[in-house]
Amino acid sequence: MKLNSQTIHDVVHPTAAFAIRNTYHQVSHPEEQKIPWRESQLNPKNRIDSLAPLPNPLWRIDGCTGLGTQFYSVPLFLEEASPMRFDVFIPEEIAASPCLRELLDLDTAFHTKDATRVRRLGITRHILRALQVWTLKVGLSSVTSMYRDLPFGSRIIFQSLELNIHNINIVIAHMHNLERQLLSIIKLDKILGIPHALLPQPVDIAKLSFLQQLHDSVCLVSVSDPDCLSTPETYIFKALTSGSKYLYHELKTLLLLPPHPHITSPPRYLVTKQCRFGGKTAVVGMLLPYYRSPEPDSLRDALPRWRINNQLSLPQLLDWATQLSSAVLHVREQGKLFYPDLRLDNIVLDAELKVKMVDFEQRGVWCEFGAPEVNAIDYIRILAQAEPFLPDDAADEPCIPKEVQLHYANILTRLLPGWESLDSREDYTPPSSNSQGYTGYNLAWLCLHPVEQEAAEVYMLGRVLWCLFEGQSVPQPGAVWQSYVREPDLEFPAYRRTPERLRGLIDRCTKGRRDTLSSLVARRVSKLTLRDGEGHDAEEVLRVARAWWTGEVSAAEEFLSMRAEWLERGEWKGNYFGRPRLREVLAELDAYKEESLSTGVE
Ligand SMILES: Nc1ncnc2c1ncn2[C@@H]1O[C@H](COP(=O)(O)OP(=O)(O)O)[C@@H](O)[C@H]1O
Ligand SMILES: [Mg+2]
Repeated sequence: MKLNSQTIHDVVHPTAAFAIRNTYHQVSHPEEQKIPWRESQLNPKNRIDSLAPLPNPLWRIDGCTGLGTQFYSVPLFLEEASPMRFDVFIPEEIAASPCLRELLDLDTAFHTKDATRVRRLGITRHILRALQVWTLKVGLSSVTSMYRDLPFGSRIIFQSLELNIHNINIVIAHMHNLERQLLSIIKLDKILGIPHALLPQPVDIAKLSFLQQLHDSVCLVSVSDPDCLSTPETYIFKALTSGSKYLYHELKTLLLLPPHPHITSPPRYLVTKQCRFGGKTAVVGMLLPYYRSPEPDSLRDALPRWRINNQLSLPQLLDWATQLSSAVLHVREQGKLFYPDLRLDNIVLDAELKVKMVDFEQRGVWCEFGAPEVNAIDYIRILAQAEPFLPDDAADEPCIPKEVQLHYANILTRLLPGWESLDSREDYTPPSSNSQGYTGYNLAWLCLHPVEQEAAEVYMLGRVLWCLFEGQSVPQPGAVWQSYVREPDLEFPAYRRTPERLRGLIDRCTKGRRDTLSSLVARRVSKLTLRDGEGHDAEEVLRVARAWWTGEVSAAEEFLSMRAEWLERGEWKGNYFGRPRLREVLAELDAYKEESLSTGVE
């Protein structure tokens, strides 16, 4: 079955249990289809002139996000570019022709994100060639002015995807709306509710030199203004091109969190930008210290490599495990915060190979990645937020029946009254502006009491410990939305390398775990298939997913109504599955570390 955003709705998310198959959904079987001559690659008309790298490219692509629709484009014709995020967008609907999809590796782009692999894709080369033609046609000076003067996060949109790069229609979308959401530096302390003295010094975005886009929200910059710093230094620039509320929430969290050796230091600078409209000086992002591990790849990608090369030592793994556990404990006990994003992606290593936890947006992880009790609420949330079917509509959006959406919206309201106000806006609203004083925007975690939150953190910590001791990038293979440089060759909760005693600890941390959809349906290269056999039949995948999600959603509802009853009777203890506390996990790891040091066991 093809991979696209509809697949997420119809297979990967709990909406699969109720998905209405409207005109939008034409299940196709490209493998079985006869490609007509006018679309065939054998037809000379359907050949791309060239996908060869350009001798003097004007642009570079640093990676991809948005399920293969957004490419980080970097202008090479500017001597010094500030990090303006002028990305290329390829809307999914313009890339429908099977011939083009194949020639340009669009199905691979769906799950590929890192620069090295993205640069090998046909689509990346095609974009670079099309940008070259467009830039020369529009003129270097005009494109330079666009880059410098347009609102932050403005977009280069390909309105069509043609074999002939000269026929691709490119337009620019000015993202005034994003700048409108940004908070003014003058009001920042009041709106965030923090003392002015805590705010880092501002630096204008024009004084930053862009180096490399690492991730959707994060790039490397150097700050070279002598008034600002004595020597140019490299920083992480974190900014969001949508949902600015998460950025300000993270900024506030980082400024208020007491320091810890294994948690990122707070931002050193606020990055500001003069906005054209309204004339405000807006806070567009923050500069964080850059933790530069001596390894070329991230901890997530390096772990499997070390495992394969037999370079994973138990003392090193125990160090990382205790460093991380103490950081998570600190966030809970000192920060009084929940941390819903615990996975290898959010752990970086510094120059001494010590752990640093990053990412305090509290957005949470993809559906099914978390603890089962969090997933239960998240499934309800996803259904409550799903598009309801309206008979008068053209029905070209993935949707579920209106009464189903309402049913789940009502359950969510009982769990988290007023959730709509947290959900509906992209811009930051202080806790005082919502009736319940909620801090943050993670609906599922806001429903939980602190004891429940800690138990869910322990669950996620258990899965990260599994990845560490097994030397795997992620706990489950075949993630739909992302492929990894080194895919796991073992699946949680199977063990191969973890010391016996730690297996017991990880098992206790992850009590209550349930099977996941990926045990039945997973991505194989760039298609969704049934895991047993060669099931490429889209109808079969849809049927299996629907049955799976029907069971999971009803289990989620049962669990939540049991919780509600126990809560009402005052009998709900919170740690329903009886997992250890964070302190206990840390103590066990410490004890094991000491023992293994004294006995020299490896
Ligand atoms: N301070 C840092 N030093 C080094 N790498 C970092 C730092 N902060 C983030 N990163 C890298 O950038 C990625 C994205 O940052 P993160 O804060 O997790 O953003 P997001 O909220 O978009 O996931 C991380 O997974 C990590 O690889
Ligand atoms: Mg992250």
